Amino acid sequence: MSLKPLNFIDTNLDRFIEELKDFLRIASISARSEHTADVASCAEWVKHAAKEIGLENATIYETAGHPVVYADWMHAEGKPTLLIYGHYDVQPPEPIELWTSPPFEPEVRGDDIYARGSVDDKGQVHLHLKGIESWLRTTGSLPINVKLIIEGEEEIGSPNLEPFVREHKELLACDAVMISDTPMYDYDMPSITYGLRGLAYFELRVTGPDRDLHSGMFGGVVANPLNALCTMIAKMKDERGRIQLPGFYDDVIDVSSEERAELGRLPYSEEDFEKMINIPDTVGEEGYTDLERLWARPTLDVCGIWGGYQGEGAKTVLPSKASAKISMRLVANQDPEKVGEQFRKFVQENTPAGVTVEVVDLHGGPPALTPTDSVPVKAGLAALEEAFGTAPFLIRNGGSIPIVADFERNLDAPVVLMGFGLPDQNAHAPDEKMNLKNYHRGVKSAALFLQKFAEQE
Ligand code: BES
Ligand code: MN
Ligand code: MN
Repeated sequence: MSLKPLNFIDTNLDRFIEELKDFLRIASISARSEHTADVASCAEWVKHAAKEIGLENATIYETAGHPVVYADWMHAEGKPTLLIYGHYDVQPPEPIELWTSPPFEPEVRGDDIYARGSVDDKGQVHLHLKGIESWLRTTGSLPINVKLIIEGEEEIGSPNLEPFVREHKELLACDAVMISDTPMYDYDMPSITYGLRGLAYFELRVTGPDRDLHSGMFGGVVANPLNALCTMIAKMKDERGRIQLPGFYDDVIDVSSEERAELGRLPYSEEDFEKMINIPDTVGEEGYTDLERLWARPTLDVCGIWGGYQGEGAKTVLPSKASAKISMRLVANQDPEKVGEQFRKFVQENTPAGVTVEVVDLHGGPPALTPTDSVPVKAGLAALEEAFGTAPFLIRNGGSIPIVADFERNLDAPVVLMGFGLPDQNAHAPDEKMNLKNYHRGVKSAALFLQKFAEQE
């Protein structure tokens, strides 16, 4: 390919990083209503950045929640159209005291830039903007047509994007969807992800007596909501790690023996994994390897549980209420709605005597399993190989991007997940970071992809 864009990237890298810092300073926390104005100004920032690099029709679309930013460049006649999706919203930064530097004051230490959103997903949105800029600034055009859609609600489950996509099929019509919002398998192991898990997430509320009670005066005849909650949760999984909701596994596509062999070839070290997060041992569903459990098998986990006395010392009290947040990661072809029904039914049938139970829907999203032989995946593999100077890997991941399945369904276009994060990126946690060498190689991959996709079509 013409070396101009790649040279441009090398010589402008420092400026790109300064611009990325501006993006990272905006506290676009979608979950928090007190940050609504920050989220809105972040949308403005993206719109402005899109205009600056030469994209056209930069528009902010209001939704029932946070806005969607759109822009495009449609002058590559006869060439395919790529839709680039990402999100400009971020997770809450708490617990703040565990950050080495403040979450919205980006700081470069060593090869990493630290800030909330650095890798999830602002850094990875930004590298596409700069990849596009490198072409438009040096050649005045792009090898293909490009549409950009960057949303502000991914971290709260994209509640308004699916309706937006359904209502704007024409605007978003494309030949492929590019998403950079996943990790690579490891440093120097560039990867394309072809499978993501889905999500079904609920809050379970248990109510017993209408007030807290003296545990001596009442204990023994009054059902304790915390005990009842724990009893129910304990029944949700057996000792082999199998989830006990009736019908839960009916739609699960089991990993084929070929895929198991492929996954088995990846250099996974249980010891390194355990060391990375300081655990004595990995655990999980019997009969599957860790990578299979992480990527291709569903889970059920308690993400939070509360109730009763939690202050200093002992208080002899029976709580009136108890609650838990329970999430299930789903795999193809499980349907979050159907799993929700199974969950409600299980809770209903297993509610201990003496308490009442309420199930509240949090969010959900379908799993995704994308073809590995599509044109954009081939172009992605070629781009990564050239940018990283080493052959890329095809992997799955255990996280969720709710809109992937909706894009496939509504736009009838293959999705390519070409991510530049790393396993130790601390996404959603304190000290979130993006490796700047991967950012640099990511900008190059983004630029190269445009060319490779034009050649492949
Ligand atoms: N970028 C992640 C998705 C992800 C993380 C994919 C790790 C692969 C590996 C995304 O921003 C995210 O955090 N998604 C949420 C789902 C959402 C409904 C809150 C998730 O996976 O918890
Ligand atoms: Mn993300
Ligand atoms: Mn995230």
